[in-house]
Amino acid sequence: MAEKKIIAVVGATGAQGGGLVQAILSDPSGGFSARALTRDVNSDKAKELAKLGAEVVAADIDDVESLKSAFKGAYAGYCVTFFWAHFSPEKEIAEATTMAQAAKHNGLQHVIWSTLEDTRKWVPLTDNRMPTLMGKYKVPHFDGKGEANAQFTSLGLPVTLLLTSFYWDNFISFGMGPQKGADGKLAITMPMGSKKLPGIAAGDIGKCAYGIFKKGLELTGKTVGIAGAHLTGTEMAAAFTKALGQEVRYNDVPPEVYRSFGFPGADDLGNMFQFKRDFNEYFCGARNLDTARSLNPSLESFDQWLAGNKNRIPMEGRKAGA
Ligand SMILES: NC(=O)c1ccc[n+]([C@@H]2O[C@H](COP(=O)([O-])OP(=O)(O)OC[C@H]3O[C@@H](n4cnc5c(N)ncnc54)[C@H](OP(=O)(O)O)[C@@H]3O)[C@@H](O)[C@H]2O)c1
Repeated sequence: MAEKKIIAVVGATGAQGGGLVQAILSDPSGGFSARALTRDVNSDKAKELAKLGAEVVAADIDDVESLKSAFKGAYAGYCVTFFWAHFSPEKEIAEATTMAQAAKHNGLQHVIWSTLEDTRKWVPLTDNRMPTLMGKYKVPHFDGKGEANAQFTSLGLPVTLLLTSFYWDNFISFGMGPQKGADGKLAITMPMGSKKLPGIAAGDIGKCAYGIFKKGLELTGKTVGIAGAHLTGTEMAAAFTKALGQEVRYNDVPPEVYRSFGFPGADDLGNMFQFKRDFNEYFCGARNLDTARSLNPSLESFDQWLAGNKNRIPMEGRKAGA
């Protein structure tokens, strides 16, 4: 039997990378093996991955030498950065540079870079519809990733740029789930007006990435955008109402109100939603549902995701998991 091609997965103990490792391991006859990169090979999650059959290897995306070793002998690499761990686009760009260099050093035949738009191409810094943040960004956690695309392409790497979407899992772990308003009614709050938000089950991102790797090199040099559904706030609220058995409303607020909510990153997310709202046709168009489903036939709809996860959504009067 031919030797399996190794896919080295950054963020393997997290949402995106975890989905990819799971997809590789669930397809033993697919011709690929999973190399899970983690900073701590002794963590419970890392040990679990090893038990499931992944090769677990130590690497830190801030340390180019560790990445060079971790990518050695691999056929492909999945590259992702972790903005919310440090809130720095510059750090994301530096980390992308490190990953691209390590991929080049090892002659990887296929790289997926998990990216987002550099929104400044649509909203230049001179456009005052939204404030400029950190001196030179409109949506810092998007712009750094988009700017970092060049770190991969300029080295001539065989890269697929993967445009991801809003995780529905944010309703569980990012404080975006239904909250009771002053009127005592549950609502989800997003400054999207009546526009559609492309969303996805976080675990489906890695499964789509696996679909890209399985296509061979067909999608290198291409940008691929994915989502599980494009839904308005009203449509998501209706789905919540059905799944939870109690009314959930959609609370549309202006982006400036969202920016003023005061939690860390509220300004970044307020600008992000405004970008998605104001450039909605482009943004949804860049995240094709049929493409995502062809890469990952088990792609979840929002209703399916809610059915599997509604008990994990923290809401007043009920703890997550209760
Ligand atoms: N939330 C959303 O809606 C959304 C949508 C699209 C894109 N994104 C983007 O997704 C990215 C995060 O991906 P994710 O959700 O898969 O992350 P995640 O679930 O938070 O996973 C992070 C994993 O990465 C590893 N990690 C963290 N720092 C590392 C480092 N310096 N070197 C190596 N590994 C490191 C950690 O593993 P160890 O501790 O085992 O090392 C951790 O398990 C963010 O940049 C965010 O902007 C988010």
